[in-house]
Amino acid sequence: MYIEKIILKNYRNIKDAVLCPHKKTSVLFGDNAQGKTNILESVYYCAMGRSHRTNNDRELVAFGEEYAHIKLFIKDDYGRTDRIDINIRSNGKKGIALNGIAIKRIGEMIGTFNAIIFSPENLQLIKAGPSERRKFIDMELCQTDKIYYYNLKQYYKVLKQRNNLLKKINKTDDMLDIFDIQLSEYGSRLIADRASFISKISDTAAEIHAGITENKETLRLEYKPNTEQENFYKKLVGSREKDIYYGSTSVGVQKDDITFFVNNVNARDYGSQGQQRTACLSVKMAEIDIIRQEKNRVPVLLLDDVLSELDKKRQAYLINNISDVQTIITSTGTDENIKNICNKGKVFFIKNGEIL
Ligand SMILES: Nc1ncnc2c1ncn2[C@@H]1O[C@H](COP(=O)(O)OP(=O)(O)OP(=O)(O)O)[C@@H](O)[C@H]1O
Ligand SMILES: [Mg+2]
Repeated sequence: MYIEKIILKNYRNIKDAVLCPHKKTSVLFGDNAQGKTNILESVYYCAMGRSHRTNNDRELVAFGEEYAHIKLFIKDDYGRTDRIDINIRSNGKKGIALNGIAIKRIGEMIGTFNAIIFSPENLQLIKAGPSERRKFIDMELCQTDKIYYYNLKQYYKVLKQRNNLLKKINKTDDMLDIFDIQLSEYGSRLIADRASFISKISDTAAEIHAGITENKETLRLEYKPNTEQENFYKKLVGSREKDIYYGSTSVGVQKDDITFFVNNVNARDYGSQGQQRTACLSVKMAEIDIIRQEKNRVPVLLLDDVLSELDKKRQAYLINNISDVQTIITSTGTDENIKNICNKGKVFFIKNGEIL
């Protein structure tokens, strides 16, 4: 799958821009704060129906403007084309159209276009808090599995209702019964999907990791669910008193985590910085393979400032292994390898929100 054209209007600092990326590699060059990440963010928005940087859509509309518009033209390997139109208003409301037909739910668009974004923060995945690791699972699973996306949305909706109720009551309430049944139903499905996804990505990342480290290191990911499927409901009911006291739900998938093992020890506690970063790179590359396997198509890869964060050997590994992936790379021009990459694709200069 590849992007033929991106059209942006009033998207953050980009007033009006048209970008036709190379089928393989495009480099967005520019100084800091010119709009490079903004372009990648707009592309990623079309995959996820949301920004990877903010939960607040209002931020995406250029200061002083009424709306922002993203138009993405994509083509798959069989020649099928799709057009995604996203219109975001300054009050945060948005409208989405797929091939010119308005859709009501983001879920209807998700899966049409697959993209993976890789930025320096992803190299901190092991050290970051558990919420970053949950976000990583969710972003990948939502793109490959519409039912997962639906269950996740429903789960968080019920969780919010339960938390609101907990803040208002001082003893067990009938409504809690309903919320606990719903939460444990949606939550159990999410746990099953997360378990199978993490086992898959663990196997794939292990192979990649062995390749990058020339078989010197092993990598394994282990899912740490906050509760097992079968005990979900029981634990929710058992935690009611405590939850009412704190005004928030203490049991559930909103507390899940993943542990990374490098050479069979917990990389968060014992791994060197280099080992942790390599493990993150392996996992990120495994994401591409999972989409390839699950969707039978190659996602678009968005590399935001990440090359300069990798040493030469790891840069080379990454570049050699994405030869069939359409990639858009941002750079301030300091990375050494970038010149070779530019020779193979298209180069765009970004200045003050304009594509030169
Ligand atoms: N809603 C908005 N309206 C107008 N400008 C905005 C808006 N949101 C962000 N910006 C501007 O966009 C610019 C940042 O763009 P971006 O993050 O894409 O930079 P970049 O080129 O990736 O820089 P770096 O190399 O530092 O990562 C900033 O100057 C910021 O003020
Ligand atoms: Mg940037």
